[in-house]
Amino acid sequence: MPKITFYQHEPIPMEMHKVKIVQQLHLLPAQQRLEKMREAGFNTFQLHNGDIFLDMLTDSGVNAMSDRMQSAMLVADDAYAGSETFFKMQRKLEEIFGIHYCLPAHQGRACENILATRFVKPGNCVIMNYHFTTAKAHITRLGGRVEELVKKEGLVSHSDLPFKGDIDLEALEACILREGPENVPFVRLEAGTNLIGGQPISCANIEAATEICRKHGVMTVLDASLLQDNLYFIKTREPEMRDRTVREIARKIADQFDIIYFSARKFGFARGGAILVRDEALFHSMEDLIPMFEGFLTYGGMSVKEMEAMTVGFDESMDMDVISQGPQFIDYCVRRLDEYGIPVITPGGGLGAHIDVKEFLPDVPQEQYSAGALACALYICGGIRGMERGTLSEEREPDGTERIASMELLRLAFPRRVFTLSQTEYVIDRVKWLYDHRNLVGGLRFVHEPATLRFFTGVLEPVSDWPEKLAAAYRADFGDEQ
Ligand SMILES: Cc1ncc(COP(=O)(O)O)c(C=O)c1O
Repeated sequence: MPKITFYQHEPIPMEMHKVKIVQQLHLLPAQQRLEKMREAGFNTFQLHNGDIFLDMLTDSGVNAMSDRMQSAMLVADDAYAGSETFFKMQRKLEEIFGIHYCLPAHQGRACENILATRFVKPGNCVIMNYHFTTAKAHITRLGGRVEELVKKEGLVSHSDLPFKGDIDLEALEACILREGPENVPFVRLEAGTNLIGGQPISCANIEAATEICRKHGVMTVLDASLLQDNLYFIKTREPEMRDRTVREIARKIADQFDIIYFSARKFGFARGGAILVRDEALFHSMEDLIPMFEGFLTYGGMSVKEMEAMTVGFDESMDMDVISQGPQFIDYCVRRLDEYGIPVITPGGGLGAHIDVKEFLPDVPQEQYSAGALACALYICGGIRGMERGTLSEEREPDGTERIASMELLRLAFPRRVFTLSQTEYVIDRVKWLYDHRNLVGGLRFVHEPATLRFFTGVLEPVSDWPEKLAAAYRADFGDEQ
């Protein structure tokens, strides 16, 4: 729902910014893309950016900065210890979230490392609405377990439920009682649940879930990396919140938590991260881990320039004109794909458009990493790089068997303020072509499989010559140049 309506044209998302600096893009011919995919070991993480037309891998660290963010970088205060830039950032975070203590870290997973190192002991159970890959990896690395209690409707790909990231409140309380509160170091709620399609959690659910935790003396942690999208959805989809400002909603959410952490590669549109801690003693209990793993307490591995930029970015994340851009483009893309009959997660969430690969490629087994295969296919047929979010992103079970992901998704991320509507139309067009030729897409298998976070660096190969056949069909339709 764009703020500006048209006289004749049907509603479309409207950019509330203009382009001031651009990066030129190149589209390699399909046959060359096939070669590049082979060189990348059929893993889109391993492609070189120069070989990509539209990079929809992630929204992390690749959001467009505003002129105000860039100019703030010029006044950054360089100091190993006591940088004024850090204190400015801390004051801004305190103004927004009402939490004083701030531990800086170089990115979101570094915050997860600190939290897991400090709180997780072997045999512990960390409860979440849904896991995020790096959050889970740090917990399991330390002998902990993750229990995911997102409401079961959240895992239904097509629905009109506004808050598919909500946690099942009954299951949460039952789980705390079953495990014993002393065995649950914290409950982690993720705003804008990444792995199930950037789906939001409601303010009402956050309040109820954290109330249960308080009742049982369990610490509460918010992963606010995707909070800006979630704030937009709360304001537009939760009737009780409609009349509140974005700042008021952010503060209401923050008030429920003991700890908030975020990746500033997403929240703040820059590159970095931080852990905000309400309690002074708790803050001191983690303090020594920052110089050990990250950097001194007033930079935490971040460049001061990035800290200046993100301080402006936090303010921009409280502006409805800014935070509505991503969700509106995603919604447009999702609706258009849906109209074509392409299986896509509905309603559109934050972060990106998500294709349901179990339905898109029903004949490719998840054991053959169907979402990973579709990501490769879309690069070959269009030069678009998406990210697999499915079985390939899971870790194997302790006995070595595959852990089959509950959702097998291809994510087409919309880094904020980066893509135009015509580029979005191109993506929709190529996904449609691929859908009409889906019988040509086959599976993948590992050639080299790393033990942890295998999706980043794994090397794969196709189970047959399907990529060659797919590229040939594409060239037959679009010629040798595209
Ligand atoms: C919800 C969520 N939490 C944590 C992280 C980790 O952040 P980073 O990539 O900065 O390490 C991400 C990154 O994608 C994320 O989406």
